[in-house]
Amino acid sequence: MLRHERLWRSGCLRRFFNVRTKGEANFFAGSAEGGFNNRQSGKPTMKIVIISDVHGNYEALSHLPEDYDQLWVLGDLVNYGPQPGEVISFVRNRAAYVVRGNHDHCVGFGEAPRCSPRFREMAETTRRYTEAILSEGDKEYLRSLPLHVDVWIGKMRCRLCHALPSDPPFANSLCNVEQWEGECRRVGVDVLLVGGGHMSFGRKVGSTLLANPGSLGQPRSGEPVASYAVLRDNKLSFRSFHYPVNLTAEKVRAMPISATVRSDLIAILRTGSVPRERPQSVSVGSLVR
Ligand SMILES: [Fe+2]
Repeated sequence: MLRHERLWRSGCLRRFFNVRTKGEANFFAGSAEGGFNNRQSGKPTMKIVIISDVHGNYEALSHLPEDYDQLWVLGDLVNYGPQPGEVISFVRNRAAYVVRGNHDHCVGFGEAPRCSPRFREMAETTRRYTEAILSEGDKEYLRSLPLHVDVWIGKMRCRLCHALPSDPPFANSLCNVEQWEGECRRVGVDVLLVGGGHMSFGRKVGSTLLANPGSLGQPRSGEPVASYAVLRDNKLSFRSFHYPVNLTAEKVRAMPISATVRSDLIAILRTGSVPRERPQSVSVGSLVR
């Protein structure tokens, strides 16, 4: 288990962030007059679906069981998954706002993904696959994505970024509590929406509602589900759904990458957990003195 996962599952960070792995939790994002609750005026309310970390999993994306007025995407459209081109095309056609994740950045600019050791081989191997099958136009699109976007909904200011506002897109959003308090204070928005980390969480930090919708395409919450969030009537709801994981797994199995990486990627999709690291092979000769 990775260090940040251990911290997360130990309970301390989970309790602080009110981590959600299933069901629905509601958080109020602002006052009725300051936000975007138009019920009193009789106008229709806007429904915003927020997704992140799709990672080339088009099966999960295409089974999203929601309609929406706006789709917001918090980065990591590509890498790890078998269908990055389809995901980019879906997002380009439908999303109102998209920010660049670390994997989008690395595929777009041809750089190393800077992942934690357990994910390094998976990320590097699939980056080569992703770069090979994407068009120049797709890569140009990834490069063009902003590192953060500020969106005003009525009088409510929302910041969208992939990781920490001070270090998008590379920081780990599963960071410590004090760090998040500092980040929220510095940014000073009403709603701070972040991706990365692949786990849903939400809570008020000072006057800011901090939330992560979790991962749509590569769960690490311990369940094989696709997670997302809905913002409507000043209320943020966390949701998840089952999709045909087997179809994604079959496509991963057909990727021209090492059997080890394929097996790890499929295990994550099927369990929502990162498999234990395999013991390094040691030659018998090295054990004999
Ligand atoms: Fe990600």
